Amino acid sequence: MNNTIQKVTVIGAGTMGNGIAHVFAMSGFEVTLVDISKDALERALDIIAKNLTRMVKKEKITAEDQEKTLNSIKTETSLSDAVQSADLVVEAATENVDLKLKIFRDIDANAPGNAILATNTSSISITKIAAATKRPGQVIGMHFFNPVPVMKLVEVIRGLETTDTVTQSIMQLAEKVGKVPVEVNDFPGFISNRVLMPMINEAIYSLYEGVAGVAEIDTVMQLGMAHPMGPLHLADFIGLDVCMYIMKVLETGLGNPKYAPCPLLVKMVDAGKLGVKSGEGFYDYSQGVKQKRVSALFSK
Ligand code: 3HC
Repeated sequence: MNNTIQKVTVIGAGTMGNGIAHVFAMSGFEVTLVDISKDALERALDIIAKNLTRMVKKEKITAEDQEKTLNSIKTETSLSDAVQSADLVVEAATENVDLKLKIFRDIDANAPGNAILATNTSSISITKIAAATKRPGQVIGMHFFNPVPVMKLVEVIRGLETTDTVTQSIMQLAEKVGKVPVEVNDFPGFISNRVLMPMINEAIYSLYEGVAGVAEIDTVMQLGMAHPMGPLHLADFIGLDVCMYIMKVLETGLGNPKYAPCPLLVKMVDAGKLGVKSGEGFYDYSQGVKQKRVSALFSK
């Protein structure tokens, strides 16, 4: 087993992938960020640079740290080349089972035999992903939270066959990158999304049933429960398609209709109103800031 993790390959240059690359590079690891799209890689490097500048301005890091961090991130479009000498691979690709299984087969075929293979999946079974490889004991969930440079938690998810040694390595590694790891077992939604998503779904039900308006629901949870964002704003931030998908995973995986996504959530996803990323969700983001929106979509 690999106890000296130094080279980390991150698969996927989206929001989670660039955040994960950012935190590993900032903690002195050699990072290779992989995506099939060159544009996505360029955008990711731009975002990492901007987020580091923000940290320099707040005097959390120096300009020298920023340069060192950026210099330790390489980009690559070929997955097989990128994992050749990796000690750890963290997959943060699109949340699609077939895609993830294919990626893990490819990583397994090309990464060194002692490399640990981690996935940042928010809801797909770690055990199922591990079974696509010839090293299920070395496959583990390493679930980061958005925005990755800010959120302290890493949910470490053990698949059925994940070994104690691999789990301990990943727990220690998460601490090395300044996070607080929490170990959980592999069941639908793990702990984070098993608890968070039904709360978001219930907030959407409250809107759907006319109990209160968008701003009112969010204000209750922000000011009454000290949540940094209200649940409807958070749903927009996560992506309404992601929220709906995770509810379906809970519904199917736990076999309980209480987890069915609210019809309003389904309707909004059908309409392409996915939250911040599409410019519109429970709020309007088309002007670059969060604004109230009034829409027929909210009537039954
Ligand atoms: N990179 C680096 N730093 C960042 C950042 C980024 N991308 N985004 C924000 N920050 C820093 C800011 O510089 C600021 O630092 P400071 O405290 O030293 O001043 C701090 O974070 C707060 O940022 P802002 O002042 O700009 O804004 P807010 O105070 O409104 O905070 C927020 C923004 C951190 C996003 C806060 O609203 C929050 O914590 N929201 C909840 C986020 C959450 O729940 N995330 C989990 C989503 S679920 C998930 O990811 C799992 C998946 O499976 C669904």
